[in-house]
Amino acid sequence: MNLNPWIPVCSSAKLKREKRFLFRHHQKQYLLLSVAHQFFAINNQCPHQGFPLDTGMIDAEALNITCPYHQWSFDLNTGQCILNSAFLSTYPIEERDGQIWIQIPC
Ligand code: FES
Repeated sequence: MNLNPWIPVCSSAKLKREKRFLFRHHQKQYLLLSVAHQFFAINNQCPHQGFPLDTGMIDAEALNITCPYHQWSFDLNTGQCILNSAFLSTYPIEERDGQIWIQIPC
């Protein structure tokens, strides 16, 4: 069985303070978010036309992010688009000993 690796990204204090952290790994961008005392890791590329999501609007009550380009909104837990059947990739994220780790495909 081929397990995806866990990768340390930044300190949890930094993510809590800055709320957003853009992480590049193997030519791909991951957006880490601290929202309503929870952490999320998503693909920074919108599944609609591929524009970046890192300046998207966060709804901390609904736990979703809205793409700034054509306003598609995505559930941060599931990646499901609220407007249609599109999906945004989400990734497991954990805090361990003050460090944020994400599990991403090899
Ligand atoms: S590129 Fe994100 S909604 Fe169109």
